[in-house]
Amino acid sequence: MRSAWYLVPALFFVVACENKRRETAPTAQSASAPTSSVAGGSTATASALPAFDPEKLAAFAAIPEGVERPEIDDETKLGQMLFFDARLSRGHDVSCSSCHDLARAGVDGAAQSTGTKKQKSKRNTPTVLNAGGASAQGWDARASTIEEFVVVHVADPEIMGTDEKRLLATLSSIPGYAAAFKKAYSDETPAISTDTFGRALGAYTKKLFARSRWDKYLDGDKSALTDAELTGVAMFVEAGCTACHQGKYLGATQTQKLGIAKPWPPPTGTDPGRFEVTKQEVDRGMFKVPTLRNVTRTAPYMHDGSIASLEEVTKLMARHQVGKELSDEQAAAIVAFLGTLTGDPPKELVTKPELPPSGPKTPKPE
Ligand code: HEC
Ligand code: HEC
Repeated sequence: MRSAWYLVPALFFVVACENKRRETAPTAQSASAPTSSVAGGSTATASALPAFDPEKLAAFAAIPEGVERPEIDDETKLGQMLFFDARLSRGHDVSCSSCHDLARAGVDGAAQSTGTKKQKSKRNTPTVLNAGGASAQGWDARASTIEEFVVVHVADPEIMGTDEKRLLATLSSIPGYAAAFKKAYSDETPAISTDTFGRALGAYTKKLFARSRWDKYLDGDKSALTDAELTGVAMFVEAGCTACHQGKYLGATQTQKLGIAKPWPPPTGTDPGRFEVTKQEVDRGMFKVPTLRNVTRTAPYMHDGSIASLEEVTKLMARHQVGKELSDEQAAAIVAFLGTLTGDPPKELVTKPELPPSGPKTPKPE
């Protein structure tokens, strides 16, 4: 009760400033411009670009320095081998890196992914870069950790088609893996389990962070962003994007209804999304708000890869998620800002390591 009193002067100050702005703006305009152009002037304001204001930065946070130099321990090395090993798929034809290609920001560039035995998925491949920071994994947020997610993911017939039995048989049959699991998980019996498999891939994937110019700017290097990019930050906030895309990852903290302001056209708008996981009516059409980091490199966009251009998805997001129409100029400003979020993961982690040879009992491709 008492603390509320402190707000009164602050509130009064805000209102006073607001009034002052209202008073000065029309006077300045009527002095410099004839009345006939006032209407035109206000249309221009509706599509104009806002000024950058450092207060707008409150919605964001930097990925801390240090992620460029991760500690690469035995568990991480094992995870890196697994990430590049196509023998984990039923057809020995796809590895994690086939879809999450680290040479292209952790995606495959296709609208929907193609899994083992050329199985088409209905979903677009999201990036694994910075995925370690997300509060949930999968477009429908079906798992809370990468460790848990990957075991189900590998078994998915549209992805790698390798159930737990075949997975464990494969890992145990490769002498180099038997040794590497023993080394990384010396305290566990057995060293090879779906649990340790998930943990090894988790340890590796959770080091694929990528800082960008944006982080340098947030850390205090004011020369890291151009004026046009800062205008883009202001436009991003002004357009209401930060209601969902905020924090360190500009997303990846919540699920939201697709088409919350205006229904999204089918088929994108008719995907049941998270409903398939929870069977709760409130989750129909709910999707994880994806990170916008590296978004300039991860086209096409959306859970179904239905939109190819970043300008277009920006305008559609404003229309369907916020209920605002953006001009070309406003969308371009936001896209300029999104370009500052592009960064590379640690170099040592993106190359394919040498893989241990198969043993006599290694399951053959099916
Ligand atoms: C056939 C292509 C393909 C392969 C192979 C593949 N993935 Fe995926 N991955 C996807 C798709 C598609 C999704 C989104 C699935 C969904 O949400 O329905 C995804 C989602 C993910 C996510 C969640 C990211 C997020 O932002 O929600 C992680 C983490 C991940 N994969 C890691 C891996 C790892 C590790 C492997 C190897 C064991 C792997 N993936 C193999 C296509 C693939
Ligand atoms: C009410 C929440 C909400 C708001 C507000 C919102 N978004 Fe989104 N955004 C989402 C969700 C949910 C998705 C995932 C949609 C899907 O794949 O079906 C998404 C996806 C995106 C994508 C595609 C990312 C990818 O990897 O495919 C971009 C780009 C994007 N949003 C930008 C914006 C911009 C720019 C704004 C402001 C104009 C904005 N969003 C406002 C919830 C929101």
